[in-house]
Amino acid sequence: MNIAVFGAGYVGLVTAVCLAAQGNKVTVVEKDRDKLEKLQEGRVTFYEPDVDSLLDAAMSSGQITFTSDSAAAIAPAELLFICVGTPALPDGSADLSQVEAVMRTILKHLSHYQIPSLQQEAEGKLVVVKSTVPVGTGDRLSRMAELHMQSIGAAVPIEVASNPEFLREGAAVHDFLFPDRIVIGVGSARGERLLRELYRSFECPVLSTDTRTAEMIKYASNSFLATKISFINMVSDLCDKVQADVTHVAKGMGYDRRIGEQFLKAGIGFGGSCFPKDLQAFAAVGRKHHVQVELLEQVIRINQERPVKLLEKLKDALWVMKGKRVTVLGLTFKPHTDDVRDCPASHVIAGLLREQAEVVAYDPVGMANFRAAYPELSARMRFADNAYEACDRSDGIVLLTEWPLFKELDWVRVLAKMETPYLLDARHYLIDEELGKLGFVCN
Ligand code: UDX
Repeated sequence: MNIAVFGAGYVGLVTAVCLAAQGNKVTVVEKDRDKLEKLQEGRVTFYEPDVDSLLDAAMSSGQITFTSDSAAAIAPAELLFICVGTPALPDGSADLSQVEAVMRTILKHLSHYQIPSLQQEAEGKLVVVKSTVPVGTGDRLSRMAELHMQSIGAAVPIEVASNPEFLREGAAVHDFLFPDRIVIGVGSARGERLLRELYRSFECPVLSTDTRTAEMIKYASNSFLATKISFINMVSDLCDKVQADVTHVAKGMGYDRRIGEQFLKAGIGFGGSCFPKDLQAFAAVGRKHHVQVELLEQVIRINQERPVKLLEKLKDALWVMKGKRVTVLGLTFKPHTDDVRDCPASHVIAGLLREQAEVVAYDPVGMANFRAAYPELSARMRFADNAYEACDRSDGIVLLTEWPLFKELDWVRVLAKMETPYLLDARHYLIDEELGKLGFVCN
């Protein structure tokens, strides 16, 4: 199929390279000149396993191109994917200005260049929203199209569909190609046929529904996963008080297939570009419709308190924080990504600096992004070249991201470098017992 993808962020680029790998002809429209130039040279603008090799292959076979010329992308495309950002506004609701701008561009180019040929073809275009958007956005976009066509006196068949994306950063290509399900929100049999055709080689359930329901599925899924995390974090606090082991509690719960083992890892809480923003947006939609959303608000609150609780624990162990050297291992919001958006590390480091501790951090891929995203914090801390250097004369280590390389460290060597052998594993990632035997004080 001939496909246009608007936005070369995580979702857009992963969608584009995966659909190109399946033999579709994909044109990606990116407005950011710097990003566009890099992509045209075959360079991926973020760290995500497997995207670079798929991009290489798609560029060599000519299945993918990158442009800022919307008209050229829109003209031949049957499917137009909207994959732009929907950041949070100050009140928590989603900012849909980028989504609306793409729709305006599509309509403008359809009216200028496409109407005569489209009317003859009697086959219109399907605009597919992959960005996470509040319920009703698809309807709004359809209304925009109707009004536009009325205003220019034409009846171009253009339909809006919702096809939410459930990929996780760090495993994006795998999640796109082997999803648990595909959700298609459409208003016509033709829209459904086109999307089922696009995904015909995927071996997973395909749920076809209306656009409003599809939009809800995405928010409800993310909110439910985040609820699991905050739930286990609440249980973790209780475990601390009664000397129970939260990792075993999670394991014992997870064996129950009705609960499932995933998203029950207690620790520093969730960050990133999706959960915090999507929860806020979902709660904002609920409030707008006078639905009680205290459950979601509590999930958010529990998560926001995770760094505060960690700092309390650290203060309890190290006592006077002023002048203490604290090593932060891991800056990204999860491993296998260089994304530091809303990362727990930013909140922990801000707290440590407030206490006048000396902060030394190391992350295998996230340090450049951290410096760029948090210049004020970065100016007041140090970044080490490797994990051992970061632990030099340290009074305590805080592990915030479960990068495999941290598990493989020579912990005897680390211990020998430290001033005080304190380790706070905020991901329950390392094996406390073994580190305890080496002489670490863990909690
Ligand atoms: C999430 C959803 O999983 C994905 O379906 C959606 O498309 C986008 O949002 P992502 O944010 O990339 O994906 O990462 P995810 O693996 O879900 O982790 C989110 C956050 O929760 C991370 O900070 C992670 O460390 C944290 N987390 C996850 C936990 O604290 N405990 C867990 O058990 C699982």
